Amino acid sequence: MTTTNLIKTRRNVKMFKPDLISESDLMIWLEAASYAPNHRMTEPWELLFLGSETRAKLNHKTDFGSAPIVFALISKPAATSFERDENVMASACFAQNFLLAAHEAGVGAYWASLGALPHNREILGVPQDHDVIGVFGVGYPAEIPNAKPRTPIASKITYLA
Ligand SMILES: Cc1cc2nc3c(=O)[nH]c(=O)nc-3n(C[C@H](O)[C@H](O)[C@H](O)COP(=O)(O)O)c2cc1C
Repeated sequence: MTTTNLIKTRRNVKMFKPDLISESDLMIWLEAASYAPNHRMTEPWELLFLGSETRAKLNHKTDFGSAPIVFALISKPAATSFERDENVMASACFAQNFLLAAHEAGVGAYWASLGALPHNREILGVPQDHDVIGVFGVGYPAEIPNAKPRTPIASKITYLA
């Protein structure tokens, strides 16, 4: 698949098969994700892999689509809010890299934002100065949603003099 097709066919998957994900494949996708752009090589991403007890405490409506793997992606703090924003941007790039690397192998992910809610940050033990990028359920898709149409990109472009 071309990179363009890979990008366009990735979906936020909401229901997974019980089939397990190989640990070594997972590490390959995460390692690839770490080639995300990041200013001054801060490499701000950190991962928390969630066991069944923590998943139950988060009380997600579908338990992340029964994904065999669930992890939270956390972004490290910085000296200034400008640099902290940069860390969040770099961590989001990490997330997209991961999603695409997994998708290339036929594996989907459910990006859920509930980890950033104050009571869920507490459950995850995330320090005040860290940002939660998302909680990701990862597995082989049981169903793949249709693509949601996008706004024509030309309408998003302004040319400055
Ligand atoms: C920062 C962020 C938070 C998201 N949080 C959620 C969420 O809490 N629940 C959810 O169903 N999808 C969540 N999504 C996924 C989007 O809903 C999904 O990407 C969007 O509907 C487009 O669908 P697609 O990814 O299949 O193209 C999130 C995506 C991002 C980037």
